[in-house]
Amino acid sequence: MSHAPSIDPHRAKTIVRHGWDHVSELYRPPNTSKDAFGHDFEDHREWLEPLLKAVPRGSEVLDLGCGCGIPDARLLTDRFRVTGVDISDVQIDRARRLVPGARFVRADMTEVIFSDDSFGAVLCLYALIHVPTEEQRPLLRRIHRWLVPGGLFLVITGTNAWSGVEDNWLGSNVEMFWSHPDAATFEGWLRETGFAVRKRLFIPEGSSGHTLFLVAKPAVALPGEMGGGHRRTSE
Ligand SMILES: C[S@@+](CC[C@H](N)C(=O)[O-])C[C@H]1O[C@@H](n2cnc3c(N)ncnc32)[C@H](O)[C@@H]1O
Repeated sequence: MSHAPSIDPHRAKTIVRHGWDHVSELYRPPNTSKDAFGHDFEDHREWLEPLLKAVPRGSEVLDLGCGCGIPDARLLTDRFRVTGVDISDVQIDRARRLVPGARFVRADMTEVIFSDDSFGAVLCLYALIHVPTEEQRPLLRRIHRWLVPGGLFLVITGTNAWSGVEDNWLGSNVEMFWSHPDAATFEGWLRETGFAVRKRLFIPEGSSGHTLFLVAKPAVALPGEMGGGHRRTSE
């Protein structure tokens, strides 16, 4: 494992894209309910519950870094019109086969374009942690714009700051890249973007863990709030 905070973003994305092409089935094997780290469908159902309860049926929902579509896109398609975005061709091919009721786009989440005020909810579970840290705040501003007023954003990010490349990830002979600030810094970024924090939850994993945030785009923009209402923010 190497600490590489200054890795070229283009190289980082290439590592992530090829890495996920290789480990898609190792991470989420076919016909099992657990991923390689032991999180099962019930964990995801619990994390998604606020969206399933609060977002109006039939809303557009965006899953950034959707992986193979299991379990999140599948859990959401009964109720919502789901669009999944993933950088890995293999993940998107699997998702299209496994969740035919959703729409999937192979793209880098930092480059994909959507209209303002078009999603009732956006989720990004265990995926923003693969986006170079310096690209995360501009992406948060875009997510804020894509959400309808009152829309929800659910994200699982890191807990401690770390950027770097790991060799032989999941024993697969491929590299993987991660990049994330600590959870307090990330919460500050969410607030400065204009999100209201509804929930913060530590999710343990081995000797460390991740942090889940559920945040809302306020229905009415308050004076001085960035990105609120229909105002556009600069990136
Ligand atoms: C750990 S998997 C999580 C998959 C799914 N969200 C879940 O929770 O099971 C991370 C996913 O993020 C995708 N990803 C990483 N960087 C991305 C980027 N810049 N744009 C789109 N997808 C990305 C990877 O290809 C991978 O499928």
